Amino acid sequence: MNTNSAFDDFVDLLDYPMFVVTVQADGRMGGCLVGFATQASIDPPTFLVGLSRQNHTTTIARTATHLAVHLVPRQQLALAELFGGETGDAVDKLARCDWQPGPEGAPILQSAMAWFVGKIVQRFEMGDHAGHLLMPVGGSTSDAESRPVFFADVKDLNPGHGP
Ligand SMILES: Cc1cc2nc3c(=O)[nH]c(=O)nc-3n(C[C@H](O)[C@H](O)[C@H](O)COP(=O)(O)O)c2cc1C
Repeated sequence: MNTNSAFDDFVDLLDYPMFVVTVQADGRMGGCLVGFATQASIDPPTFLVGLSRQNHTTTIARTATHLAVHLVPRQQLALAELFGGETGDAVDKLARCDWQPGPEGAPILQSAMAWFVGKIVQRFEMGDHAGHLLMPVGGSTSDAESRPVFFADVKDLNPGHGP
């Protein structure tokens, strides 16, 4: 079997939680839906976020010191669709939802079930995505019971920004 098609078959089997990642820097704010994200180590605690190079969010993240990572409950699917289906190049997504400034000024979404803010401790190449390694500096969980939005819930959503 061709290696790439074996890999495609492999990733087709995956389902995983989705995150809304927000950022502020230099008086600009934004955020997008992210699937390429995972806890990366326990000691020290780190979390890896892959941001598509073309995204409005990524252009802000270039000079940001921190990112906010949110888990969105399934009943707030529309919030995930807003952040994944629209681009900040055309739409002020934060004007369309409730949020407040959190640690280091990162926008914290009110409808999130849990969130943390992480300091960007490393940036690195990941092909068409830029790796951001985060170390948590604060966070909160308001709802540990709801099921978060998963990839399967949004796999048919057209990304708001091209790759
Ligand atoms: C299912 C799904 C998964 C996505 N995963 C990522 C991701 O891991 N990283 C990323 O930067 N964008 C990802 N996107 C795309 C962005 O969320 C989308 O293009 C968004 O509109 C970009 O907004 P922005 O231009 O305001 O940053 C995903 C979109 C969808 C629908």
